[in-house]
Amino acid sequence: MQRARQRRRAIPPKQPALTKDRCGPSNQSASIDELIAAHRPGFSLAQPFYSDALIFERDMQRVFQQHWLFVGHVSRLRRQGDFFLFTIGAESIIVVRGKEEQLHALFNVCRHRGSRICLQPQGNRRTLVCPYHAWTYALNGKLLSAPAMPAGFDASEFSLRPCHVRVVEGLIFICMAKKPPEFDSAFRDWEQFLKPHGLARAKIAKSLTWEVNANWKLVVENFGECYHCGPAHPEYCSVMAHALPDTHRARRPVESFAKLTARWEEKARQLGNLAGRVPQDPDAVHVCVRIPIREGFLTQSVDGKPVAPLMGSFREYDGGYTGGRIYPVNYFVASCDHAVIPRFTPLGPQRTEVEMIWLVHKDAVENRDYDLQKLTWLWKVTTDQDKKIVDDNQAGVNSLAYRQGPYSMTEQGLTRFTAWYLQQIQQRK
Ligand code: FES
Ligand SMILES: [Fe+2]
Repeated sequence: MQRARQRRRAIPPKQPALTKDRCGPSNQSASIDELIAAHRPGFSLAQPFYSDALIFERDMQRVFQQHWLFVGHVSRLRRQGDFFLFTIGAESIIVVRGKEEQLHALFNVCRHRGSRICLQPQGNRRTLVCPYHAWTYALNGKLLSAPAMPAGFDASEFSLRPCHVRVVEGLIFICMAKKPPEFDSAFRDWEQFLKPHGLARAKIAKSLTWEVNANWKLVVENFGECYHCGPAHPEYCSVMAHALPDTHRARRPVESFAKLTARWEEKARQLGNLAGRVPQDPDAVHVCVRIPIREGFLTQSVDGKPVAPLMGSFREYDGGYTGGRIYPVNYFVASCDHAVIPRFTPLGPQRTEVEMIWLVHKDAVENRDYDLQKLTWLWKVTTDQDKKIVDDNQAGVNSLAYRQGPYSMTEQGLTRFTAWYLQQIQQRK
């Protein structure tokens, strides 16, 4: 009997569940904090972080409503009055070009009784008119008219609630927080690495969307490591020289990639181009890198040959790949002739929208200067594969058999990401 009890104790506890029953409003915060405290650094997260509705709600409040999010490219808003909606969780944001080229991001919530104002995903408006009782707002959110309001009504108190907006080399970021986090050094580095690519004057050649049946953190973790590149992405490995050494860490491929990088960096610097990585601090919320694609490859294409006209300040193909990340979900990848900007938007605890946006030179003409199939080949095939493996990852994580698993040497970025994430959602004292 005694032994049986001891044996029972030795069995690891079942996955902690975080349901409404276990944690009603009063103890919900405490339960999430217990889970955070139980996290083993260097391991994936416990199951509820990838599946639970209450933690998803916390993610929305502490991560997505507090941080800078990439929402789209400036070429979607060429003329005054052009707008598009950015929808995330319960929030809908009108991103609109107002007077004097100014961009605004406004909560799509009428200040009368709260109706949505813009119902179409994009379009052009001279003013923003609520379809319910016709309160009318200027493109900067100021209330212009509100019929039949009583004497003393002060329209200036009822502007649409704004978000912070920042444009980084043509990429529009918004932040819903009252006081956005100070990410100036991250944006400065992004500007430096993006500038040569000329994205501010680019156009969207194509955008594709995938609905991934997984929590947003599984999508981000997958995008943040190349441990899976060997098994999952034969095409990516055939293009990117870093992929196999990053998968296996075998001595010879690692050494040969280091030699290729040293040769390429010398050439890139002779051309006056950037190379290497900033910042050096691995715990920073952002990173920018420039590395070689592969010996003899000029761009990220099936045979390494150009797929579009050179962009920005590049006068020749240097065979480099530029990439960047800013927590929580902002990324870019760019070659000398095109760029791909992913947008990861949580839709629910186990659903995430992945959008890939391909940018080319603004004057490039389809079928004359670029072929969409060739341009989109690498990141389309890679994202198709990523959707499949991340869907399968979520299915396994949902099992009663799932436990936190250890990250490999090539997944150390995930150790840092999960630590940052847990810090964000922790109950503030
Ligand atoms: S809710 Fe918008 S005008 Fe009434
Ligand atoms: Fe992948």
